[in-house]
Amino acid sequence: MMNKFIFLTGFSLALCHFGLASELACYFTNWAQYRSGGGKYMPSNVDPHLCTHLIYAFSSINVTNELITTEENDETLYKSLNELKTRNPNLKTLLAVGGWTFGSAQFSIMVSTKENRQTFIQSSITFLRTHGFDGLDLDWEYPGARGSPPEDKQRFTLLCKELLEAYTAEGAATGRPRLMLTAAVAAGKEIIDAAYEIAEIAKYLDFINIMTYDFHITLENVTRHNSPLYRGSGDTGDNIYLNTDFAMKYWRDQGTPVEKLRMGFATYGRTFRLASGDSGVGAPTSGPASAGPFTIEAGFWSYYEICTFLQGTTVQWIDDQKVPYATKGQEWVGFDNKESFTTKVNYLKENKFGGAFVWALDLDDFAGQFCGQGNYTLIRHLRSLLNTEFPTLPPNTTHVPHETTTSSGAECHESGLIFSLFLISSIIITT
Ligand SMILES: *[C@@H]1O[C@H](CO)[C@@H](O)[C@H](O)[C@H]1NC(C)=O
Ligand SMILES: *[C@@H]1O[C@H](CO)[C@@H](O)[C@H](O)[C@H]1NC(C)=O
Ligand SMILES: *[C@@H]1O[C@H](CO)[C@@H](O)[C@H](O)[C@H]1NC(C)=O
Ligand SMILES: *[C@@H]1O[C@H](CO)[C@@H](O)[C@H](O)[C@H]1NC(C)=O
Repeated sequence: MMNKFIFLTGFSLALCHFGLASELACYFTNWAQYRSGGGKYMPSNVDPHLCTHLIYAFSSINVTNELITTEENDETLYKSLNELKTRNPNLKTLLAVGGWTFGSAQFSIMVSTKENRQTFIQSSITFLRTHGFDGLDLDWEYPGARGSPPEDKQRFTLLCKELLEAYTAEGAATGRPRLMLTAAVAAGKEIIDAAYEIAEIAKYLDFINIMTYDFHITLENVTRHNSPLYRGSGDTGDNIYLNTDFAMKYWRDQGTPVEKLRMGFATYGRTFRLASGDSGVGAPTSGPASAGPFTIEAGFWSYYEICTFLQGTTVQWIDDQKVPYATKGQEWVGFDNKESFTTKVNYLKENKFGGAFVWALDLDDFAGQFCGQGNYTLIRHLRSLLNTEFPTLPPNTTHVPHETTTSSGAECHESGLIFSLFLISSIIITT
C-alpha cells in the first residue's frame, strides 16, 4: 500500500516537473542593466519560476570565429542567471548569439569554411560549459540577407547540422545531457525564403523561435501594428504575409514539426507620430512618437511605458487582427495586452504549436510599478494561459484566475495537478 502510494505520488510529481503544458522561453537582455531607475533590469529581477527556458541575449563571434561576450560584466551576469537553476532545477538556460545589431558579416565568415565552423562550434562547447548554460540559441539576422550572400542559406543548414553532431558527441563523451540547439528566425516571408532550408534545419534544432513581431516598424509611413495575429482587411501586396498566422503556418507547412514551433510574444509596442487627423490603422505618419523615458529608443515603447501612456486615453481594438492600439495627441502605439495574449494563446493551442517565447523579460512591468497589475503583468498572464492544458482539471478550476508564486521550490502550482494528487490519495485511502 505504502509503495503504491509513493509510486503514484512520485508519478504525479514527475508530471508536475514538466511544469507547463507548453514551454515558455523568455529572453533576458544584457543592456537593460543600463536603464535608469525602475527600468534597470538585472538577473536578480528574474523570477526563476516564470519561464521554462531563459535565453541570454546576446553573445557574439570574434574575428577568429570564437564565441565571446559582448558586455564587460557578462560573466558576472551569466553566473547570477545560471544560479537561478538552484532555485528551480527544471529551469534551462541558453545563450543567444547574434542579434539585429551584430548583423550578418561575422556569421558569413564563420560559416564560409568547415574549419571556421568547427572553430566556432568547439569554442561554443567550451564557453557554454564553462559558464553553465544548457544550450545555444542562434540569432543570425539573417542568413542570405543584410549583406550575407545567397549561399549562406545552405551554409546555415551545415552549421546547424555540425553543431548538433558536435553537441551529441560531447554529450556522449562526457556523460552530460547534450547541449540544446535552438534558433530565433525571421517571420517575414521574403527573408524566410532567402534564409532557411526549413525542413532541413528543423531536423537539427530542438525548437525554433519564430519572431512574430516587428512586422511593421516606424520607417513605414502609415500606422500598422507590429505583431498582428491575422492579416488586416486593408493589407495588400506583400503586406498580406506580414502577420503571425501566416508566419507560423508557413514554417509549419514547409516542414517544421508543430511541437518544435515557438510563437513570439512581444512585451513592447511600436510607435508612430500621426501626420493628419486620421488615427486608425493605415493613417499617415511622420515618424516615431517621443522616445520612452526608460528605453530611450525612437519608435519603441516597453509595456510599462505604454501603461503610463494609456492613462487618460482608451485602448482601441483592431478587430480583424486581434490586437490593440492607442492614440493620444499625435502619438500612436500598437502593442499587446492581456486580451491579445489570450487570443494568441488560443490560436497557439488550436494549432498545437509547442510553445511560446517572449521578447523580453525586462520590457514587461516586471516589478509591478507601472501598470498596477502585479509583477510581470503580461508574462505571468501568458504563463497561466499556457498552463491550462493539464488533464483531469475539475470542471470549474479552468475559470479561476491562477497566479503562481515565486516562493515555492516545486513547479507544481497547477490546481488540476493538485486535484489529481488529491484524487489519487483518495483512491488509495479508500482501497
Ligand atoms: C577570440 O576569442 C578567443 C576566445 O576568447 C580568444 O582566445 C581569441 O584571442 C580572440 N581572438 C581575437 C583576435 O581577439
Ligand atoms: C510612403 O508613402 C508614399 C505615398 O504617400 C509611398 O509612395 C511610399 O512608397 C511610402 N513609403 C513606404 C516606405 O511605404
Ligand atoms: C462554474 O462555472 C459556471 C460557468 O462558468 C458558473 O456559472 C458557475 O457559477 C461556476 N460554479 C462555481 C461553484 O463557481
Ligand atoms: C510577484 O508576484 C507574485 C504573485 O502575485 C508574488 O507571489 C511574488 O512575491 C512577486 N514577486 C516579487 C519579486 O515581488
